[in-house]
Amino acid sequence: MTKTPEDHGKRFDEIAAEYDDEESPEYRACADLVIEHADPKHVETVLDIGTGTGAIALALADDAGVVLGRDVSEGMLEQGREKAADREVTNVDFREGRFRKPNVDTEVHIVTSNFAMHHLSDEEKREAIDVIAELGARKFVLGDVMFFGEPDPDEPFYSPEVDDPATVGMLTDALTDAGFSVTAVEPVHEQVGVLVAERSREDGAE
Ligand SMILES: C[S@@+](CC[C@H](N)C(=O)[O-])C[C@H]1O[C@@H](n2cnc3c(N)ncnc32)[C@H](O)[C@@H]1O
Repeated sequence: MTKTPEDHGKRFDEIAAEYDDEESPEYRACADLVIEHADPKHVETVLDIGTGTGAIALALADDAGVVLGRDVSEGMLEQGREKAADREVTNVDFREGRFRKPNVDTEVHIVTSNFAMHHLSDEEKREAIDVIAELGARKFVLGDVMFFGEPDPDEPFYSPEVDDPATVGMLTDALTDAGFSVTAVEPVHEQVGVLVAERSREDGAE
C-alpha cells in the first residue's frame, strides 16, 4: 500500500543522519545527470522537490540564483541546512513542502527531483506533475527509479512495501498531458533514469 507523505517523512527522519553515508553507483549517476540537465542560469530559481539532505539543491547553488529545497522530512532538511552552513552556501532555502503542495510563493524557472517521486502512487504522480506544470517552470528534470522494461520486484532499486515506481511510458504521458515535451531520456539502469521535460516555445520558454 502506498504510504502517506507523513509516513515517508517519519521514515526519512529516522535515517537522516546516515543518509549520505551510502550511495549506489546508479544513484550517483542519476544525481549527476539531474545536475547536468538542470543547468540553471545565475538569475534563475530552482525548486528541488524531495530534496532530502540537499544532494541536488546544494550542487546547483553556485550556478542558480536561488534554490528552494522542499521535503516532508524535517530530519533530512536539517541535514541539508547543516551542509549548507558548513559549505557557506547561503542561497538554498530548505523548508517543508511536498510534491502536491510545494510551499512556493515565488516564480520558479526550473524544477528538479531526484529519487523521490517513486514514493507517490501513479495517480499522485500525475497530480504532482500537474502542480509542477502550474508553477510555470520552463524545465522539469526528473531522476528516479522508473521502469524502462517490465517491473521486477526482485531488483534492488525499490522496496514494494514503501515504493511505487512508474513506467517511463506513464511518466512521459503525464508530462506530455501537463504540457511538457520530453526532450531527453537518460537510462542509467533498467529501473533508474532521468527524464527532461521542457515547455514548448509557444508556452513561453526561451
Ligand atoms: C531517497 S531520498 C532522495 C533525496 C535527494 N533528492 C537525493 O537525491 O539524495 C527521498 C526524499 O523524498 C522525500 N519525500 C517522500 N515523499 C515526499 C513528498 N510527498 N513530498 C516531498 N518529499 C517527499 C523524503 O522525505 C526523502 O527526503
